[in-house]
Amino acid sequence: MRHQQLADLLAQMTLDEKIGQLTQVSGDFFSDDAEERTGPMTQLGIADEELANVGTVLNIAGAAQCRRIQIAAMQRHRLHIPTMFMSDVIHGYETIFPIPLALGSSWSPAAAQRMAKVAACESSVAGLSLTFSPMVDLVRDPRWGRVMESTGEDPYLNARMAEALVHGYQGDDLLHDIDRVAACVKHFAAYGAVAGGREYNTVDMSERLLRDMYLPGYRAAVAAGAKTVMTSFNTVDGVPATGNRHLFRDILRGEWGFDGVVISDFNAVRELIAHGVAEDDRAAARLAIEASVDIEMMSVCYLHSLAELVASGEVDVSLIDEAVMRVLMLKNDLGLFEHPFRGMDEARERQLIGCVEHRAEARRIADCSIVLLKNERGMLPLGCERGVESVAGSAITVALVGPLARSHDVLGAWSFKGRPQDAVSMADGMQRMAAEHGVNLLVAQQECDYFETSQAAIDEAVELSHRAGTVVLALGETSAMTGEASSRTNIALPQAQIELFNAVKAANAHVVVVVFNGRPLDLGAIGDAEAIVEAWFPGSEAGSAVADVLYGAVNPSGRLSMSFPQNVGQVPVYYNAESTGRPYEGAPGEKYVSKYLDASNYARYPFGFGLSYSSFVYGAPSVSSATFDAEHALDITVAVTNDSDIAGTETVQCYVRDRVGQVVRPVKQLKGFEQIELAAHETRTVHFSLRESDVRYVHADLGERSDPGAFDIMVGPNSRDLSTPLCVTLV
Ligand code: BGC
Repeated sequence: MRHQQLADLLAQMTLDEKIGQLTQVSGDFFSDDAEERTGPMTQLGIADEELANVGTVLNIAGAAQCRRIQIAAMQRHRLHIPTMFMSDVIHGYETIFPIPLALGSSWSPAAAQRMAKVAACESSVAGLSLTFSPMVDLVRDPRWGRVMESTGEDPYLNARMAEALVHGYQGDDLLHDIDRVAACVKHFAAYGAVAGGREYNTVDMSERLLRDMYLPGYRAAVAAGAKTVMTSFNTVDGVPATGNRHLFRDILRGEWGFDGVVISDFNAVRELIAHGVAEDDRAAARLAIEASVDIEMMSVCYLHSLAELVASGEVDVSLIDEAVMRVLMLKNDLGLFEHPFRGMDEARERQLIGCVEHRAEARRIADCSIVLLKNERGMLPLGCERGVESVAGSAITVALVGPLARSHDVLGAWSFKGRPQDAVSMADGMQRMAAEHGVNLLVAQQECDYFETSQAAIDEAVELSHRAGTVVLALGETSAMTGEASSRTNIALPQAQIELFNAVKAANAHVVVVVFNGRPLDLGAIGDAEAIVEAWFPGSEAGSAVADVLYGAVNPSGRLSMSFPQNVGQVPVYYNAESTGRPYEGAPGEKYVSKYLDASNYARYPFGFGLSYSSFVYGAPSVSSATFDAEHALDITVAVTNDSDIAGTETVQCYVRDRVGQVVRPVKQLKGFEQIELAAHETRTVHFSLRESDVRYVHADLGERSDPGAFDIMVGPNSRDLSTPLCVTLV
């Protein structure tokens, strides 16, 4: 439809019909089963006739079901406006990919884009037109359960991932490419900074910090063309995001020019009352519509109060018209007026969802998200025990024990239609490949609980550890321990697992721990393990991907996208912290400096860190010139050599420190990275370009600009182990 036709349609709509377009309810409101339908309807206080006008539906999927609801919706609607289906397809629809924090650890925007493309395809054939992804909240506090949904702590990496995800979901031609879906950037804004890591808590930060660190991810996603943006549950400077005009009208729409749909988070409009900024539904509706929230998700303040607000003159109908127009335009951008059933297709659904190609992609992406944190004495890969190739024909014996050894709880939270029973467990993945890698695998058979290990399970683990050359101990969190409403104050492994580790370690010194988790954990208690593999929640192909890495079929290449603390008391610990007036230089006995008495300032495993079976050697970086300016970028070069017999992938990272700013600057900031594949003993020269625009930052007056002066450039394999700074000057 052309814009004029949409305007004509809007002109024909009654006020109630308009307000209906601004209301979203979940799929159960349209269930065939009367009981399933009336329960939520009574709870929300929505009448049957009001449902006829409701414009969009959330958290439902399946081509047949969506088709049925669409037919009914169009029949019931006086103007036959199609509805639209939206769901949380966060890291895959049914084929589940690694959780976003793991995807961030791939440092591969290309992988993120491929994941999103597959997720979009499976979603679209199942009737969805939009996914509530990407979540681009910058995260620094692993106590917050939703860190698993983010790509991490760095604005630059997050922005690259956000763009890639938007492109993967939406493609280049959303209107005609029916295998794509619209993206929804969330949660605007700064939800990742909830105080104390406690879910739904207050966010309090300066606008300068907000703009400098927290907003770039959202802005990149918007600039990449994301069709919609979701509000966050938290306050920003005392005003809940869902009623925050400044965030939405001034920044998102005014400064960034976003003209798409803004949707509230679940019940967040009504929560303005609990926040204490609205007296009742009516006041909540007014705040939200004035902030330019177009769709109210799962509360009915708009549905029950907007008409009155218009009648009383408190809300101008033009606010409603502009919101409705944006909803109609979204539907139009997806072609729903001409093709209300868009991608939904029962035959393709059967053929594509969970197909071999999608599973293969899930495995490839899981392979590159796994991070090798420790590997002493060449423990890994397993086929060459302690650095010595196993003699052909003489298999090495490996025991696989621990709560995750046979568990299928490897998908992680927010794994939409993913079924744990369809996921490859570690036992299955390792067993399948054991023979070809010369491994005789002993898998523990006793049920091993995450929180309480039975004596029988401990005895069996110890017995297998005695019999094996190496023990693989699979530990971690359950999926339910991260995700929404899953904050923790203790981010160590459960005590029972630590005890199991100690028992196994006492029986066999050669322990490889594989950790499954949705947040950076305090891994202090397993620090003695000879090898530690961070698997995250790898998704449907979990066991195969972990086996790929353990056996060396895949050389690990993941790099942490979020720092792992020494202990919870150090949280938040992140690499791009601001300079202090009394920096700690590491000298013992220094007292009046910024440090702890009982722990280091630094992360246990820093941002950007990850090992490989190859070993990479960095040359000294060089710059094309000692100065740069607005017209002339700097070329930074570094030679990286694979000093090993194994081909591998290295992520070369470039950090910059602004020596003197108008406001205090971070001690370092990632400004570029390059992933290279190096054959055994190959050397490659990597180039980075540093432009004046790359060193702009938000000043005290909130203006974004650079300051002439000195900058340090550092290159290396992670945010800690960097080259000696090279000083350059911006003129
Ligand atoms: C979450 C959102 C999600 C929405 C819809 C909320 O509770 O915060 O991230 O998209 O529910 O399911």
